[in-house]
Parts: sequence; structure tokens; C-alpha cells
Amino acid sequence: MTLGKPIRKAVIPAAGLGTRFLPATKAMPKEMLPVVDQPAIQYVVEEAVNAGLTDLLMITGRNKRALEDHFDRAPALERTLELKGDLSRLEAIQHASNLGPLHYVRQGDPKGLGHAVLCARQHVGDEPFAVLLGDDLIDDRDELLSTMIEVQARTGGSVVALIEVDPSQISAYGCADISAVEGEDYFRVNRLVEKPAVADAPSNLAVIGRYVLHPEIFDVLEETEPGRGGEIQLTDALQTLAVSDCEGGGVYGVVFRGRRYDTGDKLSYLKAVISIASERVEFGEELKSWLKEFVN
Ligand code: UTP
Repeated sequence: MTLGKPIRKAVIPAAGLGTRFLPATKAMPKEMLPVVDQPAIQYVVEEAVNAGLTDLLMITGRNKRALEDHFDRAPALERTLELKGDLSRLEAIQHASNLGPLHYVRQGDPKGLGHAVLCARQHVGDEPFAVLLGDDLIDDRDELLSTMIEVQARTGGSVVALIEVDPSQISAYGCADISAVEGEDYFRVNRLVEKPAVADAPSNLAVIGRYVLHPEIFDVLEETEPGRGGEIQLTDALQTLAVSDCEGGGVYGVVFRGRRYDTGDKLSYLKAVISIASERVEFGEELKSWLKEFVN
């Protein structure tokens, strides 16, 4: 394995069917749904770039076109905006195509998040890499990915991001049983369970959509049988690594207490849009006073 080099690769899975968001996602990936004025996936790509990741691989599926087009140049549109003198919009669309270079791999059949990550094997090779889910947004004022990258370098294992949720919500997430690591602010993950029943959940710590993984995960994923929902689950492969003593074994958790927005289901998406919009300088205050009036 390539040791000692900073992590530079990010894998962004965006090939899921988005069934919770149908019919909006019938012909468009849910990662392209707008959050105020840019698609959710752009926030995620910006987060990866801001964390110093320079080699970005997106896992796309049958609706890949919109994703690729969004991060590509749009010469005709650029010319029109230039002629109109609309420089701020010109800059906004050019910004999206300057985030790259982005690479794409297609997951022919969406057989689960674990399978999506496995599709990155050839591109990633034998080095640790980050995974950012395209429907999970982390506020750019709050630090997460850089901390996880540091923890991966210190432990040599794999790292998951955890949030505390209301115990009744845990069955919507992967759940982690953790223990303290002396003198450190990260935790050792003893066990991971994908979407446990509330009564069986080992904690109220939920796995969210940021990972920094040791490349050993690929060998494990090759052997991971379909789990919950008939899908190849990344959580199941991480559970194998959590209890492994081999090189690349060991899973660690970073507990995130910052702002996170889920855009994967309708209600969370609406909350995400309102939260982010209400902080925009152009119309945040106006939106908040309208919301107060509307609720009253
Ligand atoms: P989700 O389980 O939230 O996505 O996967 P989904 O399957 O698209 O959504 P629902 O449950 O049907 O509404 C989390 C992330 O993993 C990607 C998704 O695109 C999303 O970013 N994913 C999931 C893949 O890339 N491939 C898959 O086979 C499954």
C-alpha cells in the first residue's frame, strides 16, 4: 500500500435509484435536485475539493447525463451570459466546471452502496480514499472530512462519521457500537449493524455519508454477500474490517456535532433547503420573516 502520502482520491456514489423521491427521480438522479440554486451533488464535490482531495470519481447510473453535464463546460450558455454581461451567473456556471477534473464510472446495476464503492476499485488502486455520499450535505463551516483523513493516517484503518440521533430514528441508519481510545477524541468501532430494529440497536450513533477507507475494503467487498434489502452493504464490509486484525483492519469513528443536511427523502430535503436558504445573505432574512408569518 502507498504509505505516508496524503489522501487525494474521493469516490462519490450517485447511482442509487432514489426510490424515496419518486416520481421526481424517475428520469433524474436525486443528487441533481436543487438545494436553493445548485444541485445537492455540487455541495458534496465542493466539500471534497475543500478537504484537499484532487482526484474525484463519481459512480453514476442510468441517469448519468445530467451529472456529467453539470460539471462540464457549457460553451453556448457561457457565450450568451457573456454577451448579456451577466458576469455573476457566468462565474457561477464556470465554477461548477472548474471543480474537476471529475472521472466517472458506471454502476450498471445498483446493487447497493457496497457494490457502488467496489466499482471504484480500479480507479482507486491500493491507497486509502474518501467516500462522500451525494445526498448527504455537511455545512462548510463545520469540519469533518479533514478530521477523518487525519484519523485514518494515525490509525491506518478505516474511518466512519457518526452522529447522535434520537433512539427511535436509528433504524433508518447503520448503527455503531463504539469504545473510547485513550487520549484520543476518536473512537474504536466494535460493531456495525445496518438499519437495526430500535430494540436491537447497540447505540444511538448513526453512520452518515462520509467515510475514509483503507483499500482492504475492496477485497472484503468482493466477498460480501447481499445483506439488508438484498443489497451489498458497505456497513457489512466495514463490520468485517472492524473485527479484523489483518493489515487494513480496524474501524474508527469520528462523532460529528456540526450541521448536516440529508437530501435523500422528501421531508429531510425540504428541511435542508429551508435551512440553507435561510442563511443566504440575498434573501435569508426575508425568508425567515415570511416563514414566521406563514406558520402563524
Ligand atoms: P441510498 O440508499 O440513500 O440511495 O444510498 P438510493 O438507493 O438511491 O435511495 P432510495 O432508498 O431508493 O430512496 C446512499 C447513496 O449511495 C448511492 C446513492 O446514489 C446515494 O448517494 N448508491 C446507492 C449507489 O451509488 N449505488 C447503489 O446501488 C445504491
